[in-house]
Amino acid sequence: MKALQAQVMERMIDLRSDTCSRPTAEMRTAMAEAEVGDDVYGDDPTVKALEVRTAELLGKEDAVYVPTGTMTNQVALRCQTEPGDVILLHEQAHIHETEGAASSVLSGILPKFLPGSRGIFASGDVEACLTPGHRFAPSPMSGPVRMVCLENTHNVGGGAVWPLEDIQAVAQVTRFHETALHLDGARLWHATTATGITEAEYAASFDTISVCFSKGLGAPVGSCLVGSKELMVRARRFKQQFGGGFRQAGIIAAGALHALEHHRPRLQETHDNARRFAEGLAQLPQIEIDPASVETNIVRFQLTGIDAGDFVEEAYRRGVHMLPSGRDGVRVVFYLDIQARQVDEALSTIKESLKALV
Ligand SMILES: Cc1ncc(COP(=O)(O)O)c(C=O)c1O
Repeated sequence: MKALQAQVMERMIDLRSDTCSRPTAEMRTAMAEAEVGDDVYGDDPTVKALEVRTAELLGKEDAVYVPTGTMTNQVALRCQTEPGDVILLHEQAHIHETEGAASSVLSGILPKFLPGSRGIFASGDVEACLTPGHRFAPSPMSGPVRMVCLENTHNVGGGAVWPLEDIQAVAQVTRFHETALHLDGARLWHATTATGITEAEYAASFDTISVCFSKGLGAPVGSCLVGSKELMVRARRFKQQFGGGFRQAGIIAAGALHALEHHRPRLQETHDNARRFAEGLAQLPQIEIDPASVETNIVRFQLTGIDAGDFVEEAYRRGVHMLPSGRDGVRVVFYLDIQARQVDEALSTIKESLKALV
């Protein structure tokens, strides 16, 4: 029995997150051979090369490499707000839901939530929050809105891509009201892959953009915050203050550079696998999913009459690892380590798991 369990673990198809990706042999070689220096003293040539390449891809003046996407987002907030300021963001934004309340603790920010399907909110709702109130309701009663944050692609929104026109409509409002606009672009690469709109075209609307190398791109560590030279000077200050000064970081930056060059062009494979998986799921009983809603590498589906916790436990025992999301929701994420044949294996394991549970 123990041996059987060990075999299942070895063959486990891990669909919890694209952060479960592992560096390839070529990436490990690039990392082992990286030239390094002390990044806190600005001496690491590989970190510098990564920052230059990322800024160039996003069409901005400068970039700062930090350990995590949470840190890039939080540095962006700290750079462009003061304690007591209000930020506008979607009610299911990663910045709010999954960053350990960091914006309240590190920046003293009050979040104000915007509604919207699949993480996408309306420029009219932003406008309504930024327009000064009537003179009988003086504005000092609530903190000033200093920043608006978008997420593209949207994680809880099932990898949904923000339409460029909607982003531009929000940017028009924030520019008019002189309010900062930040993009949590942890998976911006996927939006570009899905639409053909370049990262730079998306980035043009924003003051700051966070991009991650450690998700679908498959590097082990790291994210960049991108923006103007002036803002990135402030970003370096808060990177250090938040404990992000990471010395010979060139070793991991080399993994990120390798991922940009070799993995970024391959992301469509992960989208194709996600879509095929969703189409297979749609054929199964007790699963609700619209495969057409799968635009990138994230698949979210609902169960009917089965508890999501029981379902993911059963599938895990049989060799497919997924994340429950609430009582009846499940999240699955594809990345380059997952082969096309594993899509079929995962679907047949899910079918067996459903049979076992009814
Ligand atoms: C949309 C989004 N933003 C930010 C992050 C945070 O990245 P990290 O895990 O590197 O802190 C994640 C992590 O999955 C994410 O999905």
